[in-house]
Amino acid sequence: MSSNLAQNQAHQYWIVPLTTLDVYSLNRLFWQECEEWLRVLQWDYSEPSQMIKEVIAAGQLPGFALLADNEVIGYSCYICEEHKILIGDLYVAEEHREAEAEAALAKALVEDILRQPRVKRIESQNISFGSQVMREVFRAYSFSEYERYFMICSLPGREEPLRGPFALRVNGRELVIRRWRADDFETAADIIHLSYVNQVDSQMNDQYMTRSGCKEFLTSLISFTGCGSFLPEHSWVVEDKNNQELYAVIITTVVSDRTAHFPQISVRPDWQGKGLGKELLRIAMNDLCRRGFKAVSLAVSAENTNAVRLYNRCGFRIAHQFPAFVRVL
Ligand SMILES: CC(C)(COP(=O)(O)OP(=O)(O)OC[C@H]1O[C@@H](n2cnc3c(N)ncnc32)[C@H](O)[C@@H]1OP(=O)(O)O)[C@@H](O)C(=O)NCCC(=O)NCCS
Repeated sequence: MSSNLAQNQAHQYWIVPLTTLDVYSLNRLFWQECEEWLRVLQWDYSEPSQMIKEVIAAGQLPGFALLADNEVIGYSCYICEEHKILIGDLYVAEEHREAEAEAALAKALVEDILRQPRVKRIESQNISFGSQVMREVFRAYSFSEYERYFMICSLPGREEPLRGPFALRVNGRELVIRRWRADDFETAADIIHLSYVNQVDSQMNDQYMTRSGCKEFLTSLISFTGCGSFLPEHSWVVEDKNNQELYAVIITTVVSDRTAHFPQISVRPDWQGKGLGKELLRIAMNDLCRRGFKAVSLAVSAENTNAVRLYNRCGFRIAHQFPAFVRVL
């Protein structure tokens, strides 16, 4: 199946299912995508990119390729999880970001997803580089849209490694900020779950809505590389010195040679607004720069103004802005 979808003065665009494509024809496009991730986000996307290519080669990834003049200039894909569909990627090479091309690819993707049986929810949280046209297509299909910021902070070099743990006194209680241990997993999932109740992020990602979802989410951060490779030795928790309860957690991954990423910062609601988030960030960033990291990044929802303000004060600046989309059927 293929369809001639759009034409402008310069190009004729074709959309074909990924399963019909010779995977080698994607090489240039995937290289361009990796180059853009590295340039804009300081993120080495080559490992996830290679994995996507392997799944396409195995004929197991639903989605489409966009062709112009016999060259693959864009692609999209999605993953089905029971009643939920996650949009995995929707990318058009920078030099080909024209309205017709982007709209054709986005429409083909959304219409195909909507044809799938038993779908109750569609989420798109991936970092995307599309233009306004992509947003208009999702709006036309009644998706809710959430603005996201990708923020980066440059780290100054330091010589001495940071050891820890660090003592902290808050509300008359003695707290300790110490490095992550494997047995922190269950409590960290609880903290993440509680901290996102009534937060915009749980509208975007329904994993945040349940404890089991937060455990799945944390497992994927720790075990897979979609958000970078987990660095347990650079992840931290805030623990009560007297009863060993945990109140906050920061998870750190590595996304390129000298760049780290914080895929999760979470403070239990009854401990929010007391300086724990700021202190965790300060120590984690200090630790990273003493270990030779040159930058650290994170993604945050624009609506999460407390968090955005905190990150700004810690030195993070917006490097990229992108939308997340959700539709509940
Ligand atoms: C965002 C979050 C990690 C911040 O941690 P925190 O411990 O609550 O923040 P802090 O107390 O260290 O506040 C630091 C600054 O941020 C602001 N702030 C952040 N959260 C606040 C809150 N809930 N109430 C009041 N002020 C808050 C304050 O302006 C404070 O400014 P100051 O430097 O003048 O004191 C925490 O509120 C949280 O877990 N939120 C829910 C989950 C979440 O959104 N995570 C981040 C996703 S990217």
